[in-house]
Amino acid sequence: MLRVLDQIEDGVKDMQSGWNLPRECYVDQEFYDFEQEAVFMRSWLCLGRVDEIKNPGDFVRIDMGDEPLVMVRDQNMEIRVFTPICAHRGHLLCEGSGNAGRLFRCPFHAWTYGLDGHLIAAPSMNDTIGLKRLKAEAHLPSHKVEIWNGFVFTNLDPNAKPLTPTLGKLTKTLEPYHIDKMVSMPVAEIKGCDWNWKPQLENGIEPYHSAYLHGMLHDFAHVRLTSFVEFDEDDGAVYHPTGFYYPDAGFNPTGKALMPIIPTLGEKERNEVIFASIPPNLGFGAVPEGLFYYLVLPAGPGAINLRIGHLYPEESTKVPLFDHLYKIAQDGLVVFHNQDAASTASVQRGNRSRFRKPGRYSFQEESLLQFYQWLQKRYREYASEARQAQEA
Ligand code: FES
Ligand SMILES: [Fe+2]
Repeated sequence: MLRVLDQIEDGVKDMQSGWNLPRECYVDQEFYDFEQEAVFMRSWLCLGRVDEIKNPGDFVRIDMGDEPLVMVRDQNMEIRVFTPICAHRGHLLCEGSGNAGRLFRCPFHAWTYGLDGHLIAAPSMNDTIGLKRLKAEAHLPSHKVEIWNGFVFTNLDPNAKPLTPTLGKLTKTLEPYHIDKMVSMPVAEIKGCDWNWKPQLENGIEPYHSAYLHGMLHDFAHVRLTSFVEFDEDDGAVYHPTGFYYPDAGFNPTGKALMPIIPTLGEKERNEVIFASIPPNLGFGAVPEGLFYYLVLPAGPGAINLRIGHLYPEESTKVPLFDHLYKIAQDGLVVFHNQDAASTASVQRGNRSRFRKPGRYSFQEESLLQFYQWLQKRYREYASEARQAQEA
């Protein structure tokens, strides 16, 4: 493990002397376990959009590695995030998404919990422990919540610093899009992808491959129109704009936006896409008609699930034939996704070979180096804390 961490540290110094991540980072169970602690247990994790849970009782269950999480709208319209495991014997309290009414009821022995996570009732427990005492000790683990541009984030580290101050540059860049006002289309789930979580983010922010893997499909947003953005050590996002050869382009078979253009955009935004990632699990593209995003949910060293969504200004969803246009927009994105998926699966296979060595960066992969620097900071911090704890 230490050898791998040293290798990563040497590789992320700069583009000229550096190299990409060692294969162990993608395929090794020990590294995956380390990374769950170093990254996922301490970083802001995106669970979806505020308007997926509009009404009291609405919830969405998300599995993040071994951690089941639920985001729920409580009776006071607050958004809360819990670990939805029963305090009795650990049965999960909900699956999928839906409306829980006023409470979560455990199917196993019917303990019930309010939408704020406290225990309400537990049948046939009085002879061993009174309800009052039980209530004091049995409540759902509750986690920090932060909303950024309508995305719901949680952090499993109770001491985590806020996310938004680390997103200053990206927030400013995205202001004209008014993402917080956009409405969500139903989320599409893709389960059982057999690759590591990192290549999924890498594909979204690395423009080098777009000219080759996607070829003509991506020509309107050619890699040579990409400009990278400076990345500081404390930045919580990696992003870059890629210009268009013509305004109001779109990632679908027509190459043009299908929906109305976001009315608040200027010339600049109408002539580019912003590819962004808020690691470790949110990636998105902001385009002149809206935004598409994906949540990456790790399920093992070589396994992820995806939740993919589209956002549009509310007025756009009222245009005639919206449903038909939206279907084309979805299908258009699937073409890109399928190309990315095939190559990501192939890279995952390649990384299983012991002969795979870290490779060099193209100058069109600066955002990859930035992502690896984001990771390296977290690997380093956690490894040094773990070392200190061991020595103490
Ligand atoms: S495990 Fe939930 S009530 Fe027993
Ligand atoms: Fe791609």
